[in-house]
Amino acid sequence: MFDKLFQKKDISSMVGKSADSRGLRRTLSVTNLVALGIGAIVGAGIFVITGQAAANHAGPALTVSFLISATGCILAGLCYAELAAMIPVSGSVYSYSYATMGEFPAWFIGWDLILEYLFACSTVSVAWSGYMQSLLEGWGIALPHSISQATFAHAEDGWHLTGSIINFPAVFIVCLVATMLLGGIRQSAAINNIIVVIKVCVILLFIGFGLSYIDTGNWSPYIPPNTGEFGQYGISGILRGAALVFFAFLGFDALSTAAQETRNPQKDMPRGILISLSVCALLYVAVTAVLTGIVNYKELNVDAPIAVAIDHAGKGLAWLSPFIKLGAIAGLSSVILVMMLGQTRIYYAISRDGMLPKMFSHIHGKTRIPHKATIFAGGVTALIAGLLPLNVLNELVSIGTLLAFTIVCISVVVLRYTQPDLKRPFKVPFIPVIPLLGAAFCILQMASLPWNTWLRLIWWTIIGCILYFTYGIRNSQLSRKQ
Ligand code: ALA
Repeated sequence: MFDKLFQKKDISSMVGKSADSRGLRRTLSVTNLVALGIGAIVGAGIFVITGQAAANHAGPALTVSFLISATGCILAGLCYAELAAMIPVSGSVYSYSYATMGEFPAWFIGWDLILEYLFACSTVSVAWSGYMQSLLEGWGIALPHSISQATFAHAEDGWHLTGSIINFPAVFIVCLVATMLLGGIRQSAAINNIIVVIKVCVILLFIGFGLSYIDTGNWSPYIPPNTGEFGQYGISGILRGAALVFFAFLGFDALSTAAQETRNPQKDMPRGILISLSVCALLYVAVTAVLTGIVNYKELNVDAPIAVAIDHAGKGLAWLSPFIKLGAIAGLSSVILVMMLGQTRIYYAISRDGMLPKMFSHIHGKTRIPHKATIFAGGVTALIAGLLPLNVLNELVSIGTLLAFTIVCISVVVLRYTQPDLKRPFKVPFIPVIPLLGAAFCILQMASLPWNTWLRLIWWTIIGCILYFTYGIRNSQLSRKQ
């Protein structure tokens, strides 16, 4: 039994199998990867969370928070790049752990990745619903209350009903994205490329035109003094801000789930991850500087901070407002697309290994995508996005992701010592300093999360363990072979 839990997949056979012509199609180039990366990264983090983090925690020094967060993500990103280039198969960190740590740890992390992608996708769909409703309101169209909000709300006194039946726009966008994905990876990548161009243009327009409206007085004091409470301005506020805007960088890891559909994964995957992360870090720092320069940070505790900054700039920038909302809506759509893509490819990889029912790895004859997994992912995400509120959803995303990042960083070090001869087309420099720093960074951030979030992670893990011990362990391909 113990042996089974830690049995490992052979890396060369995994890579060999992935070249199987009957599997997923290798069509993605490095440009597609960078576009997918930016598509997955730039979303609710910059369009929604930035304002709240500046207003409540870091003030104008949120730019520093972004740099701290980006540094942590780049450290983990380097580790992702080494593993993704070495084991270019579908399933991301799930597959890497299967090769490095064994079956049960792999299942554990795969289950954790499902948590991340499922809840991130739902969170961003709810944010999409908010922006869409604000755009519609600008055109004089108001949705009835019964279909405009989540069914449940969660406050300090517990759960209650909101009186709304379902958050219809959130369900709508999830179903639309799932339908796009069913059209195949090439079509999804093409749609994503168009969306990425739109959202990057909108952000660049904001930075370019916003520059001349900056009042440098708004940047002073650059680090507002701490109020006496941890996390409210001062240095601790910058750190809390970093933990909050960490959400804004999530998504680059979803890229590695598409390794098996990449033309030249060994070279292109590291490039794709690192280029998209760096571009996003630059954009975020610039947007935050302009945002806090146009409006005083205290006024940014709103759902659409960029729109507020434009309104604040006056008539000169009013023409930009609808473009910003449309850009945000497009931007959030592509995050949903890539997160859902990631989710389906994790189901695919786990099912191919026998630990989830076969239907999840069934590939459609024409589109060559795991269509049943896509329909399932769409259905579950739509349900969660329609029923639950944003604050409950996004809590779970960070803890799941940080855990995945920690395991990736540790796997890189473990593999360097246990399997030193494996071909590594991309190598993390300064081993073991960089991966260990990356892991320490993630563990620190996990430790700063509230106990409730940990409790939910524990519940999710217990459900995962029940599934593994009642189904996975018996049906795993590796166990059957042996
Ligand atoms: N990074 C993604 C976003 O900000 C999850 O929406």
